[in-house]
Amino acid sequence: MNDIVKNLENVSQEALRALEGAADAAALEKARVEFLGAKGRLTELTRSLGTLPKEGRPAAGQAANKAKEEITQAYKRALAALSQAKAPSQALDVTLPGRKPAQGHRHLISKTSHEICQIFAKLGFSVVEGPEVETDYYNFEALNFPHDHPSRDMQETLFVGDKLLLRTHTSPVQIRTMEKTKPPVWIVVPGKTYRRDDDITHSPMFNQIEGLVVDKGITMADLKGVLTAFAAAFFSPETKIRLRPSFFPFTEPSAEVDIACVLCGGQGCRLCKGSGWLELLGSGMVDPALYGFVGYDPEQVSGFAFGMGVDRAAMLKYGLSNIRHLYEGDLRFSRQF
Ligand code: PHE
Repeated sequence: MNDIVKNLENVSQEALRALEGAADAAALEKARVEFLGAKGRLTELTRSLGTLPKEGRPAAGQAANKAKEEITQAYKRALAALSQAKAPSQALDVTLPGRKPAQGHRHLISKTSHEICQIFAKLGFSVVEGPEVETDYYNFEALNFPHDHPSRDMQETLFVGDKLLLRTHTSPVQIRTMEKTKPPVWIVVPGKTYRRDDDITHSPMFNQIEGLVVDKGITMADLKGVLTAFAAAFFSPETKIRLRPSFFPFTEPSAEVDIACVLCGGQGCRLCKGSGWLELLGSGMVDPALYGFVGYDPEQVSGFAFGMGVDRAAMLKYGLSNIRHLYEGDLRFSRQF
């Protein structure tokens, strides 16, 4: 009787070793069959209990149950351990292509501003910049806006201090540049500008590109020629422009420049409100009064200037219906360009 109990203990220990040492599912299954299978060693031993004398059976039976329980538990543990060890290698497929980090790109405004400057650079213009916080002198006074003149109201100025303001246009850089350099001047000035204005076509912060040419014998024909070349390069080669009389304190004569409607080509549609034309920029011949502020001789030189809304140009080129799309920072919008 003691022999059987001893045998049961031995088999149990052997079984535990075999199950715990199984390196893979096949080895584990082999060990299971060897000990727990219908013809396995534990089963054989349990059967032999019937040959024992009656009084020895309860103790041997308990030992057999204990052995079976131990081996079964060991099998379950080994099975769980094996499937857990396998899980990570199945979850991680090292052959999958990696995730690309998101890559940014220029915002539509910077892209358009850059593109416009490039076109003028090819026509011989240099790119210069100026401050966004300006003095009354550069933003108004030296640009021939008289004190307390209603033309200042057109500008919806945001003041920072008594004589300090957020520039309402890029035109102050005309004065700053002419103060520092002698003619000839051929410059474009990209930059942010500010006005108290906010609706679907106006944003309180917007972007302009100023152009200034001062040289010998410059006429309005040069203004029209340069802007026609620009419109052809920026929109499409056949784009027509027209000059419409207007007023700015710092140009004389002044002209609003329209382009033939980008949607209907001039037939008249909803975008151009039936007129066939879209307003693109303000321009004119530099008012000789400005030369007095910067020490140029109006008998020697003449020039033209223009100021274009970059946001407006981008809206026209890409058919945007609302200027706010440009400033809301919604990636679903930005990613389209
Ligand atoms: N500064 C003017 C504006 O913002 C545009 C302009 C620039 C007009 C240069 C004429 C010449 O409205």
